[in-house]
Parts: sequence; structure tokens; C-alpha cells
Amino acid sequence: MNYRHSFHAGNSADVVKHSLLIALVRALQLKEGALTLIDTHAGCGLYDLAGEDAQRTGEATQGVLRAFADQNPLLHDYRAAVRAVNAGAEPQLYPGSPKILAQLLRPQDFLILNEKHPEDAYALRGAMRGTPAAVHERDAYELWLAMLPTRTRAAWWWSTRLTSRRTNAPASPPPLPLRIASGRTA
Ligand SMILES: C[S@@+](CC[C@H](N)C(=O)[O-])C[C@H]1O[C@@H](n2cnc3c(N)ncnc32)[C@H](O)[C@@H]1O
Repeated sequence: MNYRHSFHAGNSADVVKHSLLIALVRALQLKEGALTLIDTHAGCGLYDLAGEDAQRTGEATQGVLRAFADQNPLLHDYRAAVRAVNAGAEPQLYPGSPKILAQLLRPQDFLILNEKHPEDAYALRGAMRGTPAAVHERDAYELWLAMLPTRTRAAWWWSTRLTSRRTNAPASPPPLPLRIASGRTA
């Protein structure tokens, strides 16, 4: 696994990808039901645009820095997400998809992050400290199979609450934790 996103963070592909990510999650959140967001290839979560890796390629110049220089209204939410991890007007830090997703979480939502590269997984844990995200260091294909279908007590509770609201039936209390095939509980 040679790829390291720290060389490419905030490039033009990230601008498009992260703008769409924000719009998609917001569209899914038009419904009140709990969402479980799973980022199988999460990367480091937060990147230093002044760091050696980013400076070596300079890709952010045509990406996030251009999105700040040219204030296109379509990128308003994207710029707000980048601003949220920066103190000054110019972005020094770049939020990867994990940090962006964490900003979008509602109280009923869940965020599961995964990164296989040990150094990036370590950085990811640090970047996500203090957020409700669960961080895994596994192969994405294994994680995917282990996590789906999503089974959380809160997700179940929210879905019954919404159903009971539609049918006027009283909401039941959450069930006991479900036991999944691997022996883990959710
Ligand atoms: C494009 S980068 C992630 C970018 C991140 N999602 C973002 O938008 O900020 C892809 C990441 O996937 C990781 N990766 C590659 N193969 C993987 C696998 N099989 N399982 C888990 N992670 C993997 C790489 O180490 C790299 O950090």
C-alpha cells in the first residue's frame, strides 16, 4: 500500500469529492431516522497543508486554496467545513472525509471510520479524539462485511420511534444488544 493521502490532501479531486459528500449526507439527513456513516478508506482525518508531504506536490494550490480564492457560492458549505478546522482565514489544515463527516453528525447518527495503514490509522485516532467516531484499523473489505447490515440499539430505537409516530403506537424500549456472527455485540 504505497498511497498516502497526505501528499494529495485538499487537491481538486478532494474539493469535488468533499463538496458532494456534504450535499449527500445533508440530503440523507432530510429524514429524521438515524444514519450510520461508514468511511472504509478514511485516511488521516486531518492534514497539514504546510507539511512536507503537501508541500512536495503543491496540489492544494489548485484545490482548496483555489476554492478559497475564487468564492464560488456552490462551494459555500465546503469552505465552511474547511474553516471549521482552521483558526485563521487562510486554510492551514485540511479536513479529510472523517473530520467533515464528524461535523455533520446529528445526535442520532453514528460514524465508523477505518484505515488500514498503521501510521495513518494512528494519526486518524488522534485527529478524531473527542468526537463520537469509532475508529478501526482493518482491511476495508473485512470491515465492510463485519459492519453490514448496521445494527445499533439507537438506530433500531429511532426507526421504531418513527414507525410508532406514523401508526400512533407507543414506542417500545430498546432491545437487548444483538449478537453478531463474529461474537461482537452492537
Ligand atoms: C484517498 S485516501 C482517503 C481519503 C479520505 N477518504 C478523504 O476523503 O479524506 C485512501 C485511503 O485508503 C487507505 N486504504 C487503501 N487500501 C485500503 C484497504 N484495503 N483497507 C483500508 N484502507 C485502505 C489508504 O491507506 C488511504 O489512506
